[in-house]
Amino acid sequence: MNPKLELLKEIYRLDPNDLPQRKEALEKVKPFADEIMDRFYEKLLEKEDFARFIPTERIPELKAKQIAFVVELLSKPFDEKLYRRIARVGIVHYHIRLDPLYMSYGYHLLSELILEQSHKDPSLLPYLKLIIKYLKVSEAIMGEEYFAQKSLAESPYRANDLFVAVNRLHTAYMGCRESFENLRVDPEAHSAFEKALEELREHREVLAEAGFDLATIKRFCTEYAKAPSETTVQALRRAVERPLNDLSVTAYLSLGSSLASLRAMTDIVYRRLVTNERSLTPERARENIRRILGENFGWAVARLDFLEHEPREGSYDLVKHLSLGESVFYLAVGVRELSNRLYVLEQIDLLGEAIKLTLYLHEKESR
Ligand code: HEM
Repeated sequence: MNPKLELLKEIYRLDPNDLPQRKEALEKVKPFADEIMDRFYEKLLEKEDFARFIPTERIPELKAKQIAFVVELLSKPFDEKLYRRIARVGIVHYHIRLDPLYMSYGYHLLSELILEQSHKDPSLLPYLKLIIKYLKVSEAIMGEEYFAQKSLAESPYRANDLFVAVNRLHTAYMGCRESFENLRVDPEAHSAFEKALEELREHREVLAEAGFDLATIKRFCTEYAKAPSETTVQALRRAVERPLNDLSVTAYLSLGSSLASLRAMTDIVYRRLVTNERSLTPERARENIRRILGENFGWAVARLDFLEHEPREGSYDLVKHLSLGESVFYLAVGVRELSNRLYVLEQIDLLGEAIKLTLYLHEKESR
């Protein structure tokens, strides 16, 4: 049982036996459906921020889909299947990058337009309130699924940050090189180095991943400024130059894995090898994903599983939420302890996003 379903039932006080009332409410509001949808799109198009999301030639199709959706919402038992149906619509909006607040505005507008119907006939009010309650539930699920899609921008694996941070640290360190060679303190170079270390604090974790410990470097830097000595210079060298050397080695390793990810990306996006099948089933899609990742990253992947539920935080390095038709599943990957691990993680993360996109496109094109 999906625990989110239970939470929603509790939050919105959903009555498990309210299906007859929901169906009745649906019948009451059906005669006004077209008028409500016309007003909905009229109002959305008045606002530039929303108009840009709406391809005008598709409005009749969108209206029909939205009505069919509300019909399902009010005529189906509130169970795992309906949850997944709503989640899929959330995923569609994630792909068009309609942020949750914009989505909430859409729901707000729809609710207002539905509530207005009570001006025509006040006896409709309890039915309308029930419909609005289910719209709220649907909004919550869509918001939840939007975040579950874990957008690319939020990926924790940004090797690019490491690249930027190391370059800054290296430049600042080079500024002090002459002082270190002559065992003296150049106040300007010293303060520039300290300033760079301070600015690099936001990259502290990603630097630690590559073996740079900012606190240790800072400590040796202060020590050196107080009393320049060969011992401190050596300590500083070890703290800065050794990880730098290691990084150059991993850069070569990463060239190999970059090629692997380019090959896999071509397979996924250009050759559509995950989805390129006449009657694609979730099982086949999973086999294809396993094959592509195995062929290109078998050397780096320690575990690759497909799970029905989101795994416990920290149990895998990467988790991607994927969907095909009614089927929603998680691709969970653990990566070996490699020296270029950070790069490999980002590469697999990007491939996961590409896979997610082609599954979405497949769904859209096969409708
Ligand atoms: C600000 C509000 C909204 C905008 C701008 C918007 C925009 C869109 C767009 C552009 C699509 C087509 C996506 C595609 O095929 O690539 C779509 C699909 C859809 N929207 Fe919305 N939408 C909004 C709010 C809503 C709300 C409040 C609901 C539900 C009550 C809803 C239900 C749907 C449904 C059911 C589909 C079809 C999904 C599918 O193809 O499976 N939308 N929407």
